[in-house]
Amino acid sequence: MTMAGTPKMEGAQDAPFYLEQGPECALFETAYRHQMPLLLKGPTGCGKTRFVAHMAARLGRPLYTVACHDDLTAADLIGRYLLKGGDTVWVDGPLTRAVREGAICYLDEVVEARKDVTVVLHPLTDDRRILPIDRTGELLEAGPGFMLVASYNPGYQNILKTLKPSTRQRFLSISFDFPPPDQEEQIVATESGLDPARVKGLVRLAGKLRGLKGQDLEEGVSTRLVIYAASLMAHGMPLNQAVETAMIEPLTDDDDVKEGLRDIVMAVFG
Ligand SMILES: Nc1ncnc2c1ncn2[C@@H]1O[C@H](COP(=O)(O)OP(=O)(O)OP(=O)(O)O)[C@@H](O)[C@H]1O
Ligand SMILES: [Mg+2]
Repeated sequence: MTMAGTPKMEGAQDAPFYLEQGPECALFETAYRHQMPLLLKGPTGCGKTRFVAHMAARLGRPLYTVACHDDLTAADLIGRYLLKGGDTVWVDGPLTRAVREGAICYLDEVVEARKDVTVVLHPLTDDRRILPIDRTGELLEAGPGFMLVASYNPGYQNILKTLKPSTRQRFLSISFDFPPPDQEEQIVATESGLDPARVKGLVRLAGKLRGLKGQDLEEGVSTRLVIYAASLMAHGMPLNQAVETAMIEPLTDDDDVKEGLRDIVMAVFG
């Protein structure tokens, strides 16, 4: 039974698994209800994309994801005229589609987009909530279902790749990090199906490897890679091989660093 005023959470049961790290689900929902855009910051493979997919399903909104890169144009986001069978037809880009449908538009790695592209977001991300489409002369007003979410990894980016303050200050922001060990164990066990005892060792190893960030490694090992290692083991691969392919080789090309990482594996597993 749904009471008047109760948040609409029709997709909650079908939402992809997401283990909450803090108050981020409530924050997302509040941002959505108050029509505020949201920026997620955090290292690779820590759960940002999964979080957005989970929340979109919980809120019952379609999700349009755009992977940003430096060749992305405003037309890629907004739309363009295309020739179809001799006719010229307008085709909405993902941002326009999300505005029309009242969907969530997720701009992944938003700092990769050029600044002249991110400014098209400005009228949508302040209290105007409009999207002017110069080519068609339309002025779309975003309804209550539309939400803009962006994410990036502040770590490995080139120092020049940041958002303009005028873009950044249009978003509420949440910092993500790797989950604490007991939660990461739960996530890895659920995603991989590996038994919890063996998951524990992999998560302990991940914690040790993350300690090398900034010295020998530019990024700590992601939860994604720990899940890969656990999944390989769940399919019968021996520990050493799974760790080598999923938690050592992906981290570095430097042979000396790899040797150092293998020493840590030995120390953790004996
Ligand atoms: N809190 C969590 N709950 C459930 N699964 C999680 C969580 N955190 C991470 N994962 C798992 O880790 C994987 C990697 O997470 P995800 O793809 O969301 O990372 P990301 O932060 O978007 O990384 P990138 O910056 O590289 O895109 C997910 O596919 C999921 O299996
Ligand atoms: Mg992602």
